[in-house]
Amino acid sequence: MQSYKELLAANQVWVAEKLKVDPGYFKNIAKEQRPECLWIGCSDSRVPAETITGARPGELFVHRNIANLVVHTDFNLLSVLQFAVEYLEVREIIVCGHYGCTGVQAALTNRRFGLLNQWLRSIKDVYRLHREELQAIPDPIAQARRMVELNVLEQVHNLARTSIVQRAWHLHRRPQLHAWVYGLDTGLLRDILTLDPDAKLDDVFTFNFRDDSNL
Ligand code: CO
Repeated sequence: MQSYKELLAANQVWVAEKLKVDPGYFKNIAKEQRPECLWIGCSDSRVPAETITGARPGELFVHRNIANLVVHTDFNLLSVLQFAVEYLEVREIIVCGHYGCTGVQAALTNRRFGLLNQWLRSIKDVYRLHREELQAIPDPIAQARRMVELNVLEQVHNLARTSIVQRAWHLHRRPQLHAWVYGLDTGLLRDILTLDPDAKLDDVFTFNFRDDSNL
């Protein structure tokens, strides 16, 4: 593991390397950001968004939390989402989970983790919604992997259920939503669902924009 001093030293090397190739690199980057993609991923140190996708500074707008959750009362996530959709005008939102997610695994137990139990609570809802399918999987590793996939799918649907995404779908036909799962032991990303702006949602969660002047 790198100490904080090594991290600072590595930063100096990185800056020198960038400036050697392009003396104006940081001056250009500082002008503005126009990322086309919002990334919502797990805080896990082994799933760094830019590293695993080869993205450069300025290409991904990133929000990470434990177990890549989209919670409809989380003002941190909702502020990131609104800024990305309405001001940065991103065309894609990726929710990326990962196999071996300790947040998901913790939510499958009955252990007490203090405050964390409140955060992990919405993962228990995912388990409750898919209990039949999950309990039919005898292998606990396979069950945990499926739970990771179901969690990502649920979080993408949670995104689609926000008024922020539905308003942008109605007005601008964007963004497209994606559910991805990353394999810690393979380094590979799996694309498991895409939701287009014309996706049909459950009526319960569909906002009416037709006769609404208050857009
Ligand atoms: Co995780």
